[in-house]
Amino acid sequence: MFIGTHAHLTDKQFQDDIDDIIIKSQEYGVDYIITSGFNIDSSLKAIDFAKKYKNIYVSVGIYPEYADEATEKNLMLLKSIAEDEKVVAIGEIGLQFTEGMPSEEVQKRAFIKQLQLAYEAQKPIIIHCREAMGKLIQVLEENKHLIINGGTLHCFSGSYESAERFMNLGLNISVGGVSTFKNAQNLKNVLSKIPLERLMLETDCPYLTPHPHRGKRNAPFFIPTIAENLADIKKVSIREIADQTTKNALKLFKIGGEHA
Ligand code: NI
Repeated sequence: MFIGTHAHLTDKQFQDDIDDIIIKSQEYGVDYIITSGFNIDSSLKAIDFAKKYKNIYVSVGIYPEYADEATEKNLMLLKSIAEDEKVVAIGEIGLQFTEGMPSEEVQKRAFIKQLQLAYEAQKPIIIHCREAMGKLIQVLEENKHLIINGGTLHCFSGSYESAERFMNLGLNISVGGVSTFKNAQNLKNVLSKIPLERLMLETDCPYLTPHPHRGKRNAPFFIPTIAENLADIKKVSIREIADQTTKNALKLFKIGGEHA
């Protein structure tokens, strides 16, 4: 059994065949999938979508690109939808310092407001980070008191030193398709040193399809491909990867009736 801890199942690339994809994913052993919002609208859509499927859960949040949406009114709305029984995390939230993004100040404010929201809602966080690792870790360390419900850095591709700082904050590290890429030797070395007790699996589908399926649309049924690659990196069986990453995800997100 696997858990796909981060996906975008409401993406329009899935609109024609999502039922088939979910069935196929279950056949591949992916029993639970967390589908993620990235702004208010997509978070509402994700909840609606998850209501139709017993094995789909949701994370709701405003992602850096939409940081301008984090008005008091929208944060109140986010707080109320976060109470839905399908919502298991706040995310994806974080920082991205690439061209065309809202200012650092606007992003930081939206991020910290949502850390506060996660704290109040007693939910873990799913963190997005791009070109902002130093500042992201600084914000998390300064707001350590707000992340006591844990969380994970999604699509991790940083250094071991950054992974250590996340782990010291009680956060997990999520492993996606990037770890399978031929040019990911650094990341593979870093993952080989991170304890399996801190790792979880994700696809971030429809993006970041793992090797050797690159070029195709990504989907949750590629989780075993990512797991197999991680088993190679960790020099353990795929069964051990499945068991431990599932255990980590059930514990963090309190899903599947397991309230560890
Ligand atoms: Ni994502």
